[in-house]
Amino acid sequence: MTQHQDAIAPHGGSLINRVASEAQKQDFLAKSDSLPRVQLDKRATSDLEMIAIGGFSPLAGFMGPADYEQVVNHMHLENGLPWSIPVTLSVDEEVAASLTIGDIVRLDDPTGTFVGVIELTEKYTYDKKHEATQVYKTDDLQHPGVKVVFDQGSVNLAGPVWLLERQPHPQFPSYQIDPAISRQLFRERGWKTIVGFQTRNPIHRAHEYIQKCALETVDGLFLHPLVGATKSDDIPADVRMRCYEIMMEHYFPQDRVILAINPAAMRYAGPREAIFHALVRKNYGCTHFIVGRDHAGVGDYYGTYDAQHIFDTLDAQALGIAPMKFEHAFYCKKTQSMATTKTSPSGPEDRIHLSGTKVREMLRRGELPPPEFSRPEVASELASAMKA
Ligand code: ADX
Repeated sequence: MTQHQDAIAPHGGSLINRVASEAQKQDFLAKSDSLPRVQLDKRATSDLEMIAIGGFSPLAGFMGPADYEQVVNHMHLENGLPWSIPVTLSVDEEVAASLTIGDIVRLDDPTGTFVGVIELTEKYTYDKKHEATQVYKTDDLQHPGVKVVFDQGSVNLAGPVWLLERQPHPQFPSYQIDPAISRQLFRERGWKTIVGFQTRNPIHRAHEYIQKCALETVDGLFLHPLVGATKSDDIPADVRMRCYEIMMEHYFPQDRVILAINPAAMRYAGPREAIFHALVRKNYGCTHFIVGRDHAGVGDYYGTYDAQHIFDTLDAQALGIAPMKFEHAFYCKKTQSMATTKTSPSGPEDRIHLSGTKVREMLRRGELPPPEFSRPEVASELASAMKA
């Protein structure tokens, strides 16, 4: 079957593949010691991987100044497609000065392993404060995404990239389902409508509720936890994945749900990141995308539903993937079910919902979150992870 029979085309029309062929790889390896070198941070390493597997289609490399300006200021690529987050490779001035346009630059991951190359087409300086206020809506260094921008180098390197090889994920090889494969799985299952779910937190019942509400109206659910870099107080990806495995075993129908990892890094850019998250899931083949309360938010930088409203500012057809918006979900004691303010007559005193911080505090004290908040098997998994 060909790509046009997919439920939805990748962003820009075709799925990018920038994983080096065996011959290219051998060629890069043979030259590796003589190539100029740039060390990537965790986020850029994830970005390289996402570009290579087509998760960031139509990007085939790190952004040049034309795309960068358009994205930062107008939420579109130079070619007119919606795009909300700059995908850039930043280096210090001295490193930038040592590189020449036209160079094939070797890219090493944070451990010093050779992971890919960039064919350097442009170098440009940029305004960090402007990027922060446009993309993150704040230049406060307490914001974890803003901090990354201010900590990185002041020159962006642009150009197409190649990933040296696609290696199995060291922790979650069986959940490494790249866009070409997820599309194939959706075709095999005959799914015409697929809803994607982004998450960086352990699954709780409000997540499960909105996932299942969404699934009631589409053919399949693509559970897509982000396992790239997150801020240090977020629950680690291995714990979160174990919670998902438990849910897959006990609470989800196997024939309607696919669990896969999203190797990208979190930016915590709230509304802008919700658009980005949706476009990535479009590339994985999803036709719909769940956006609940405070999507990709951190602290109080964004309004509870800003990440939903931002979708109304873009051309729905150009975006392609449809947001499925959910209000704040909780357990309602009055109706004894999961609900939102849209579906429950309860007052705040009848609602059970705990913040991530509250749950972490409870777990630290050795208390389990209640069954109205978390499935008991998930609660015990979290408790034993906190003890370890
Ligand atoms: S996020 O940073 O990946 O957005 P999280 O994993 O908590 O954080 O959220 C995943 C998705 O579930 C997001 O779309 C978020 O808006 C939604 N969500 C989380 N908790 C709730 C809730 N109680 N009610 C409604 N939506 C929620």
